[in-house]
Amino acid sequence: MFVAVLLLLVTLSVQGGNGEEKAEARRPGHVSVVIVGATGDLAKRYLWQGFFEQYVNQVSGGNTFSFYGGGLSPASTATPVFFEIIKAVSCSKETSPDRCAVLKEQFLRLAEYRQLKTLEDYQEMAKNIEKELQQEGIPEAGRLFYLSVPAFAYADIADKINNSCRPASGAWLRVVLEKPFGHDFRSAQLLASQLGSSLKDEEMFRIDHYLGKQVVAKILPFRVENKKYLDPIWNKHHIERVEIVLKETLDVKGRIPFYDQYGVIRDVMQNHLTEVMTLLTMRLPVNMSSTEEVLQNKLQIFSNLLPIGKNQAVTGQYQAYKTSVQQEMNKTKDHVSLTPTFAAVLAHIDEAQYEGVPIIFISGKMLDERVGYARILFKNNVFCLQNHNSVHCKPKQIVFHFGHGQLKYPAILVSKNLFKPVLKEGQWKEVTEHTDVDVLGLPISDYYVQTPSENREAYSELISQIFAGHKNSFISAENLLASWSLWTPLLSSLAGSFPRIYPGGADNGDMLDLRVKGKDISYSSEVVIIGADQMSGTSAKDFQVMQGKFRSAAMVSAWSEELVERLAADIQASAEAAVREGGVFHLALSGGSSPLALFHRLALHHFSFPWRDTHVWMVDERCLPPTELESNFHSLHDHLLQHVRIPYFNIHPMPVQLNQRLCVEEDAGALLYEKEVRKLVNGSSFHFVLLGVGYDGHTASLFPDSKVSELRDHLVALTESPVKPHQRMSLTFSAINQARTVALLVMGKGKHELITQLSRVKDNPDKWPVTGVKPDDGELVWYIDYDALLG
Ligand code: BG6
Repeated sequence: MFVAVLLLLVTLSVQGGNGEEKAEARRPGHVSVVIVGATGDLAKRYLWQGFFEQYVNQVSGGNTFSFYGGGLSPASTATPVFFEIIKAVSCSKETSPDRCAVLKEQFLRLAEYRQLKTLEDYQEMAKNIEKELQQEGIPEAGRLFYLSVPAFAYADIADKINNSCRPASGAWLRVVLEKPFGHDFRSAQLLASQLGSSLKDEEMFRIDHYLGKQVVAKILPFRVENKKYLDPIWNKHHIERVEIVLKETLDVKGRIPFYDQYGVIRDVMQNHLTEVMTLLTMRLPVNMSSTEEVLQNKLQIFSNLLPIGKNQAVTGQYQAYKTSVQQEMNKTKDHVSLTPTFAAVLAHIDEAQYEGVPIIFISGKMLDERVGYARILFKNNVFCLQNHNSVHCKPKQIVFHFGHGQLKYPAILVSKNLFKPVLKEGQWKEVTEHTDVDVLGLPISDYYVQTPSENREAYSELISQIFAGHKNSFISAENLLASWSLWTPLLSSLAGSFPRIYPGGADNGDMLDLRVKGKDISYSSEVVIIGADQMSGTSAKDFQVMQGKFRSAAMVSAWSEELVERLAADIQASAEAAVREGGVFHLALSGGSSPLALFHRLALHHFSFPWRDTHVWMVDERCLPPTELESNFHSLHDHLLQHVRIPYFNIHPMPVQLNQRLCVEEDAGALLYEKEVRKLVNGSSFHFVLLGVGYDGHTASLFPDSKVSELRDHLVALTESPVKPHQRMSLTFSAINQARTVALLVMGKGKHELITQLSRVKDNPDKWPVTGVKPDDGELVWYIDYDALLG
């Protein structure tokens, strides 16, 4: 097939195991390219064109090529279709028509269609490759498989490639995969391990075509080139917010069976927009071409992203979606799909540099325009009294404009009140001739504008990277899983929510406008045009908080999220009342996992909490150094204290470590804490004590059968837990029952059995320590979520 035309392609680098290009021997040889799914939409629109360009660009090198289009259909029917597709490839403007005709003809002669269904089909293709190599006496450079097929077929095809198509040693194998890489964290992990049993990591190239977009690929180099301007302003003191936006005008007709299982968050946020976010926020690598360093810096950002709660996302669905689902998926008229076609999500990075900076992801189908961009909006500390049109009074922003929109071309725009960006000779140029267009609130003439000298399709760019064996623009398994672990909890928490229905296009008006308030995001307008039929599936379980009695004390019950909101609000109300009354609020907090959601709520939503006048005490502590992850203080510090402005001297960890040893009776740590309580807390009466209950009925660190009622004379005592770490320090009932308010927080299905038992047992603190919680003059309130209450 590739006989006559010894074409002439560039030297291909031999790639090292860690993805970095080795400067070692680059020997020319033969490359076989196989696109599985050769007549599909993606191949038709981008892939064949990308491979053709690659071929043309490298026409003067020493390599030869053959191209196989693979598919499930038999060659007799698919071959004509295949050739129609590849005949449609086009040459660049600079290529003369004659030369273009020659190049296309050569390309067509190097290509053939093959049915690739069974293992035998793959074996036969491999035999063919080997036969041709022998006949021509050309050494093999490598084999490139591009799997442009649904993801469920990946593992099987990878297995077939592994079993039948590996080249002899010395030549490389590269297998290119397209998203979706799973549906959530678990499925992505499963797919990664299935693929891992057939292919080595360095052989897999997971494509995210956004990384091939010229502007996206330029984000890191731009940050490096303009470091001297950006370093002082790339932080929370200067950045107002970051927006990463992909607006589309099209609907998803024709791909509903796929789309309905994914929705906008999985389709574009988990991958394209998340990748852009990491490029904008990651620490700049010292060595930009080090795949390993770039990956590590990206992973660092993932590990510092705060979990995204339900209140940090809004979703929408265009009105006509429902009918398309009914038609394309053969559903009845009353079928309701909750799949979002629009979403806005608010994220935060828990790093000193970006603390509190809102990072907003927005994407949707059927919006008013097609445009993609990332905008860094800076705070403007100049206030203009008169000349409001002066450039100093206008928004300060950098826009990475991926394409489309009013501007119509990819560009990086820096508002003139910021700085004039450096322009490296070569692939980018400055635009000075402007049409009359506005970009995100500023006329184009208020920006310095840079654009690529030559526009390249993302896929063509990535295909050339695959040939070169460069892995920086591809998604590693670690990167992928880190991204899924950010998005999966949000996807689960949104699972039953109703998206706001929007009409589509310009008619959306302000329906999808957003408001960011504290750590929450919401629609700024209240209009909801959900039809009655859309509402029919709403269950009554939604947002009700119920009041009642439990063990003759007050009880508040709700779904966990609302319960935590309510408890946080009650603590704040109690704090405000105490501060009004006496200028100080004494709060004693328990350890364990139940209060973590409460700590997050307090840290992320209660900005007016009077932390300056609050003293935080501990209900109990494990006898461990506070540096240990399992120490209650450690967890309190990580989940609450470090996020709020509380004076250090108002924080009272339990002194479990004295004289370089842990909880030794004669060191009298418990007594020391007791003295501190007596000295600082009026009448040793805490304003608010937060407790939990263990499966065995323990509360604080007061365990069954440990004679807890004998500790009456003390406020603080050393106790023994039946589980490790055994030694504990704890407030006693005397301290707890003197409090003004005691809250008992119980959450999760796992506690249902316990709650049922507790509802029946009599007071017996030695057996059921929690039944010893009986405030003398104060109030006891049980906060029990529906899972624990109803099972
Ligand atoms: C794809 C999504 O990955 O990206 C599509 O599956 C989306 O739903 C597309 O339309 C957007 O890419 P681009 O390059 O058109 O912005």
